[in-house]
Amino acid sequence: MDKKGHRGLRKNWQQAPLARLLARLAKGGVIVELGCGKGVLLNHLYKGTQEGAKLPVYGIDPYQPYVGAAAGGIYGPKTREALLRNLKAFGMEGRVSIIQERAEDVAPSWTRPVALLWVDTGQPYDELAPILEAWQKHIVWHGLIGISALWYDKRVHVSRLPDFLRPFGFRRRLCQQRHVVVLWREAGSDSTKD
Ligand SMILES: C[S@@+](CC[C@H](N)C(=O)[O-])C[C@H]1O[C@@H](n2cnc3c(N)ncnc32)[C@H](O)[C@@H]1O
Repeated sequence: MDKKGHRGLRKNWQQAPLARLLARLAKGGVIVELGCGKGVLLNHLYKGTQEGAKLPVYGIDPYQPYVGAAAGGIYGPKTREALLRNLKAFGMEGRVSIIQERAEDVAPSWTRPVALLWVDTGQPYDELAPILEAWQKHIVWHGLIGISALWYDKRVHVSRLPDFLRPFGFRRRLCQQRHVVVLWREAGSDSTKD
């Protein structure tokens, strides 16, 4: 693994085991990461499902110049270069699908049921909420959503996203820390899923 990939791995170490565990448990759909960046967490999602249901894994990221509102990280074409290096280093080349578009542009035409949606776009609440609303429609009953990087930005209060997603059936809070929240969609709830 190269130096840059290693830096990314260290930054995400707390979320990595959680992402891997969730991917191992996920079934009945595909796994999608919004904001797959350098592919560090994507690697853990991929490895996790290899230990479980071996679901298809997708990473979505526009790789356009972008300053993360939350962490202030700078992303863009160089991030994509790091992704390509990491796909090779982690043995994911040709085994995961990368969609180079914005999450909000992909959602309307997405057709595959999602068992686990991992969100790491680093956006503030006002930008993230409509993206979550668009993507929750694709998550299966008993599906999981993990939203990370919440701690970076005071505008992204941990408590706001679970409250926002509750009317859509995400009533079970499986995990909540400063930097990540994981919600489970209960079957049979009166969600507005259409
Ligand atoms: C914190 S980084 C993700 C790090 C990544 N999870 C990893 O493990 O390497 C945030 C990423 O979100 C992406 N991003 C920003 N806006 C986005 C959007 N609207 N849709 C999808 N991805 C977006 C950025 O391009 C950036 O690569």
